[in-house]
Amino acid sequence: MYQTLLTDLQDGILVVTINRPDKLNALNKDVIEELGKVVDDIYQNPEIKTAILTGAGEKAFVAGADISEFTALDGNGGAALAKKGQDLVFDKIENSPKPIIAAVNGFALGGGCELAMSCHFRLASENAKFGQPEVNLGLIPGYGGTQRLTQLIGKGKSMELMMTADMIGAEEAKSLGLVNYVVPQAELLGRAKEILQKIQAKAPVAIAKVIACVNDAAKGDSKGFENEIKRFGECFTTEDMKEGTGAFLEKRKAIFKGK
Ligand code: COA
Repeated sequence: MYQTLLTDLQDGILVVTINRPDKLNALNKDVIEELGKVVDDIYQNPEIKTAILTGAGEKAFVAGADISEFTALDGNGGAALAKKGQDLVFDKIENSPKPIIAAVNGFALGGGCELAMSCHFRLASENAKFGQPEVNLGLIPGYGGTQRLTQLIGKGKSMELMMTADMIGAEEAKSLGLVNYVVPQAELLGRAKEILQKIQAKAPVAIAKVIACVNDAAKGDSKGFENEIKRFGECFTTEDMKEGTGAFLEKRKAIFKGK
């Protein structure tokens, strides 16, 4: 179905593997378009409850946007490339009502780091390396990196990493709050699935509202508190809220329907 992606749906978890290992899974036009389609499917397909993004092979998650596609672009072309990626993929992942997490299995550089950061949270293998090396190319991040890296690790370290183009290892990424867990590569997908299975047992409408509220906070949205009140109220109109509170009071396990 896809030329540049592998997909595998089991137990509600869709594993999306970016599959150009000979180019370290660099994001060319085809990968961006197909990622856009797969994210649409995550939104629309009721069989998909949560998703994991990862890279093929043991070396790279994604080593960046495909640099070979940059040479033909002028100013408008560069802006259009960034806008298309942000609209079709990165913003859509961030705003997905279903959890999408990154299992970073190697290099996550440039657009790869940005892709991981657009996910709701990240796990990394021990060999993972993160960086925004665009200034080496006379560029800046264009898939949201200047914004999301600053949201995730703060201004000082974000400035340093983007100005030096330095790469950091998985443990440093964890100490900065860029990733939540560092695990041996062989355990990476298993650990990601374990966390998503736990999330899938919760109320899906509430999970979607958590995502929207936390995104408000991360973006410094001035309506964050107001939106939280509104969404809290909306939860009271769901069947799942009645089931969750009822099950607690009846001392049984809640079974949520996502309604
Ligand atoms: N765009 C296009 N091709 C890329 C790429 C990218 N971002 N990153 C890696 N590749 C390609 C290489 O050109 C090479 O292709 P080839 O075998 O046809 O020559 C292949 O992937 C393997 O990469 P290579 O550089 O040989 O591997 P390495 O182990 O020596 O180095 C990196 C690994 C990640 C350090 C190095 O590939 C790199 O610096 N990549 C670019 C990172 C970057 O600047 N990303 C930001 C882009 S905005």
